[in-house]
Amino acid sequence: MTRDGSDALRRWRDVTDLSLDRLSGRGLDWAARPAPHKTFPDAERVPLPRPAELAVPPADLWRVLAARRSRRAFSGTPIPLEHLAALSWACQGVTARQGPALLRTAPSAGALYPFETYVSVQAVAGVEPCLAHLDVAGFALERVAEGHHGRALAAAALGQGFLARASAVFAWTAVYDRAAWKYRDRALRYLGLDLGHVCQNLAVAAEALGLGCCPVAAFLDREMNEVLGVDGDGEFAYYLAAVGPVQRRG
Ligand SMILES: Cc1cc2nc3c(=O)[nH]c(=O)nc-3n(C[C@H](O)[C@H](O)[C@H](O)COP(=O)(O)O)c2cc1C
Repeated sequence: MTRDGSDALRRWRDVTDLSLDRLSGRGLDWAARPAPHKTFPDAERVPLPRPAELAVPPADLWRVLAARRSRRAFSGTPIPLEHLAALSWACQGVTARQGPALLRTAPSAGALYPFETYVSVQAVAGVEPCLAHLDVAGFALERVAEGHHGRALAAAALGQGFLARASAVFAWTAVYDRAAWKYRDRALRYLGLDLGHVCQNLAVAAEALGLGCCPVAAFLDREMNEVLGVDGDGEFAYYLAAVGPVQRRG
């Protein structure tokens, strides 16, 4: 490990360390609790079919786990809206309520879900390309910017061209205050863990649908924040995943 690397690790470990001292005397300020999720009330909505209405074939979990691979050779073929709905539900479908919390298909520390899901719709049958935000409570896409954002995403991701050829790109932003409100600096550990669960759900669902999926975390932060239309402070780009049919060889 380099000296810089070990210093950074030590600082990170110390600042996020949990001890009984740090826990004592800590109450939650409910009046200061950040909004649990975001919506764009003025955006045009694309309702997504709910799981019970989805005509997706059943899949064998064990085969799917064994077959999952990061795939990047996308064909650009449009996927049906049902597939985009199934993928969105796998990431953040609401499966139960617990007090004010909307419990989802993926776990999150304290059920705080300190992130938002965006979808760059690029080749989805019947839906004009756009950048959309997933309204988890209403299970709908909210169109936040018109047009095909694939090339802009690829440019912000250091020229990873497969992002432009994917049928859809999921992009997750961090809304750190939602978790820091309860966990303070310990929330730094939880954020990436939460999104790892979400992205794995997407990868498994994509495999089950016969689609390719590739996670992407190599991107220029400022440029990616700009593409996603977030301020880079209270909300910032954290993780992406491209999905779509893959080119068959020969
Ligand atoms: C946090 C994370 C970030 C990643 N970022 C990228 C990326 O920016 N570009 C890319 O092509 N693959 C990316 N990958 C995919 C890895 O390269 C891939 O998971 C790894 O090579 C193992 O291959 P497999 O997923 O096919 O099992 C990322 C994976 C993870 C978990």
